[in-house]
Amino acid sequence: MSFDRCIKIAPSILSADFANFGAEIQAIEAQGADWVHIDVMDGHFVPNLTFGPPAVKAFRPHVKTVMDVHLMIAPVDPYIQAYADAGADILTAHIEAGPHTHRTLQAIRTAGMKAGVALNPGTPADAVEHLLDLTDLVCVMTVNPGFGGQKFIDMTDKVRKLRQMIGDRPVHIEIDGGVDPITAPLVAAAGADVLVAGSAVFKGGSVSSPEVYGKNISAVRDAAQSAAA
Ligand code: DX5
Ligand code: ZN
Repeated sequence: MSFDRCIKIAPSILSADFANFGAEIQAIEAQGADWVHIDVMDGHFVPNLTFGPPAVKAFRPHVKTVMDVHLMIAPVDPYIQAYADAGADILTAHIEAGPHTHRTLQAIRTAGMKAGVALNPGTPADAVEHLLDLTDLVCVMTVNPGFGGQKFIDMTDKVRKLRQMIGDRPVHIEIDGGVDPITAPLVAAAGADVLVAGSAVFKGGSVSSPEVYGKNISAVRDAAQSAAA
């Protein structure tokens, strides 16, 4: 994985057909997805349950781009190796998930993955200042995590501040929650480069009409690119 700040669209398969993940992943990649975003929820850190390591491992052979795994679980550390074995390229943990995010990021890198840190809407940018040399991606949540299809919460000031703090470091800024062609330009202008989108990508499409995914992906990408910082 080489680093760049071009706009990347990462569809969240939380909005895919849960009976057909392999075909859904292939469809979004064929239609222009840059990364595939996988939302792992534990029913404890967030009020919903999704994918354990065996499910993520089953997705792996279908993902030809980048498998971006977003852990919404606490604790994180006991599961790092399992998600490495499942084939995650990027593993993102929430800073709110425990007292030792510094150690968690080190462990993720030691396990051979890129390390991401996610911030809930209520957590300020300053919270990650001392972690920036240990991280490859900062995920700014623009909804309270747990569900797809929620309304975007404006975090553009936080994104701008992070972009400044990051400077020349090769650290992505990812936006997660409520991203669509209306909200994407706001965060792209503030300095975000990875846009997660669940409902905005999958709405109206299916594996039998995948061109809708392509249209939806292009709509988010074009809107973001026209505003990118
Ligand atoms: C929220 C998840 C998101 C979510 C995005 O907890 O982390 O990735 O699925 O879905 P939309 O784009 O529908 O808000
Ligand atoms: Zn996510």
